Amino acid sequence: MSGVSVLRRSSTAMKILLIGSAGQLGTDLQKTNPGHPLVPLTHADIDITDAAESEKILRRHAPDVVINTAAYHRTDDCEDFPEKAFAANLLGPRLLARVCAETGARLVHYSTDYVFDGKKRLPYRESDPPFPLSVYGISKLGGEFAVRSQADRNIVIRSASLFGTAGSSGKGGNFVETMIRRSREGLSTEVVDDMIMSPTYTLDLAQMTWALLAKEVPGGLYHIANGGTCSWYEFTRKIFALLRLETPLKPIRSADRPAKIRRPLYSALGSERLPELGIPPLRVWQEALRAYLIEKGHLTP
Ligand SMILES: NC(=O)c1ccc[n+]([C@@H]2O[C@H](COP(=O)([O-])OP(=O)(O)OC[C@H]3O[C@@H](n4cnc5c(N)ncnc54)[C@H](OP(=O)(O)O)[C@@H]3O)[C@@H](O)[C@H]2O)c1
Repeated sequence: MSGVSVLRRSSTAMKILLIGSAGQLGTDLQKTNPGHPLVPLTHADIDITDAAESEKILRRHAPDVVINTAAYHRTDDCEDFPEKAFAANLLGPRLLARVCAETGARLVHYSTDYVFDGKKRLPYRESDPPFPLSVYGISKLGGEFAVRSQADRNIVIRSASLFGTAGSSGKGGNFVETMIRRSREGLSTEVVDDMIMSPTYTLDLAQMTWALLAKEVPGGLYHIANGGTCSWYEFTRKIFALLRLETPLKPIRSADRPAKIRRPLYSALGSERLPELGIPPLRVWQEALRAYLIEKGHLTP
């Protein structure tokens, strides 16, 4: 098991158990930790689909807050192996929430824009009714309810289209790096232009998570994504423009790229809860992307 990392101890230090610590969000949560004593748990340290072991680990560490970034989120695979999706995305979080409720810990859990069907065509707010189109979306929505039903103080954060310097271990990298690699290999690239979303830098999402905890916000749902919206094609164009890459890029329609999963054609996220609490929104995705490229060493400031 990984050790305990203590950075600058804040005045309101909480003992944090971080599940999924080697993932891209988990990595940035550790990087931005404002000083809480934090126990990072990788998939090798805990498997949240093993209820008995997970319960033992939670009780042994007795944290004030459990942050769960673990998920089964290879979306096409979820269609083929729904039982795996439900085990990791619903039953695992339900177990964590039950143990947290019994031990008095607060649970922070992450969900997805894929709980929506895309028909709204405007940024989805926390009060908008979900209607997932895929096994992944259904399992994550189930996980949200499982977490929220156990204790009102639990926080469920929906985010979207994550990119972080560690890359998603569950997805085998991230979209930004895939596009840069294709360009450097001289491969022309086709990217869908009819799927609109909110690209989000995990460093920004991590910082907002710590801000919510520091403010002791009420429990429930929060939509947290970088500001603005774009298609995957527009996102790629911006990556190439910032890096002055001249690789041919062709917009295509999602119908031209068949997949097992039905994806929402619009899944941008907006928040009505953050302004209610006086919390400023995250920067726009273009600024976040630029910061990411600098942090990753692709761009000089
Ligand atoms: N990535 C996105 O675009 C996106 C968009 C919206 C929402 N989200 C949500 O945001 C959260 C974080 O995503 P991320 O991109 O940071 O994911 P990630 O990089 O794949 O990290 C997840 C971590 O959890 C671990 N893990 C997987 N299954 C586990 C299990 N059963 N028990 C314990 N650990 C397990 C993974 O380890 P292994 O890799 O070794 O299995 C990985 O280190 C997830 O809840 C995801 O659903 C992600």
